[in-house]
Amino acid sequence: MRMIDLIEKKQHNKALTEDEIKWMIEHYTSEDIPDYQMSAMAMAIYFNGMSNDERSALTMAMVESGDQIDLSPIEGVKVDKHSTGGVGDTTTLVLAPLVASVGVPVAKMSGRGLGHTGGTIDKLEAVPGFNVEVSQERFVELVNKNKVAVVGQSGNLTPADKKLYALRDVTSTVESIPLIASSIMSKKIAAGADAIVLDVKTGAGAFMKSVEQAKELAETMVNIGEAVGRNTMAVISDMSQPLGNAIGNGLEVKEAIDTLKGHGPEDLTELCLVLGSQMAYLGGVGSSLDEAREALEENLHNGKALDAFRTFISAQGGDASVADDPDGVLPKAKYSKDVLAKESGEVSEIVADQIGIAAMMLGAGRETKESQIDLAAGLYVHKKIGDAVEKGEALVTVYSNKEITEEVINKILDNITVAESAEAPKLIHEIIQ
Ligand code: URA
Ligand code: CA
Repeated sequence: MRMIDLIEKKQHNKALTEDEIKWMIEHYTSEDIPDYQMSAMAMAIYFNGMSNDERSALTMAMVESGDQIDLSPIEGVKVDKHSTGGVGDTTTLVLAPLVASVGVPVAKMSGRGLGHTGGTIDKLEAVPGFNVEVSQERFVELVNKNKVAVVGQSGNLTPADKKLYALRDVTSTVESIPLIASSIMSKKIAAGADAIVLDVKTGAGAFMKSVEQAKELAETMVNIGEAVGRNTMAVISDMSQPLGNAIGNGLEVKEAIDTLKGHGPEDLTELCLVLGSQMAYLGGVGSSLDEAREALEENLHNGKALDAFRTFISAQGGDASVADDPDGVLPKAKYSKDVLAKESGEVSEIVADQIGIAAMMLGAGRETKESQIDLAAGLYVHKKIGDAVEKGEALVTVYSNKEITEEVINKILDNITVAESAEAPKLIHEIIQ
């Protein structure tokens, strides 16, 4: 086989065979196919797309390019969740113990944050003592015992995707639905998922700016999942404004605890129940999504979800008393300052990605992979879209260990609009199953 022939085939909008895709990914991973040929291929795919068969073949070829985590020693259906990335997205911190509390194993590998989006691993490290580096054996042991463990990525998973994603980043070929879908799905499958729940975000803070794009991506991923034997469901959820009220690592841990006690922010709670019911249902709880949801709601109110959180935190070395005294246990910022509304009315816009960048400027997120983060830094958003606000009332409280600059305050003010009247955006746009 010759790469040039495959490029030409795709350039003429003909489908590649499974063998051709396998060969291409194998030889790209081993560096026998150079980046310049792969970038021509990525551009041809960008313009001509891929058939369902090609997408599945590409996904599995990338899965097979590296290590695959074997979760078979864990009893039950291993359901993983993936979010396409948002601002203040505290869902995993809530979902892991919540779903475990109804008996479904959550064996989750998570990443660190970069840019305006946070990462679950960083958030968990805000709990003193919490250890994210756990051996594969111990990981399996913890999930079998407690139904939940969340650890950092280990092993050489999907090296083909790492190479291809970096190449796409510099050749303007990231925004191709088949390439994004196979990239995401390959990582979940290599991490050992039997079933997958996808939270595809849409809006200013998200990768997919429109609901239509988000829906196309979600449907593509669900099709790939089903084609390769992994039950997959998806939710299209709003990311036009940050999720919940807290943005920043320690602040989000506190928000997750509130949510697990049944009094978290309304939007975060609802999204966790929607995603959680898909996870629980795929894991065998209830005979419908509604039944799965009932089981989760019960555990939010009877203390079982919070108990699962305590067990999960202490099993990984963390101080579980954080569940009862988050303010006493979580890192505290030296400075805090309220950002006040300049006029009365209703909040009509909170530009999620820009607010995420403001939080990053305070130290809550990383500008580059090497940046140190400040686990106490972040923002608490008091007013969400549709909420009434009086002139002089706090819109946001800023927390930082650095002096809080005018630059940050102005960044926040510039990205929150108060109008005469406004309506809260729809949280769940679509459920795809
Ligand atoms: N996220 C991924 O993991 N891959 C993509 O291609 C795009 C977003
Ligand atoms: Ca949040």
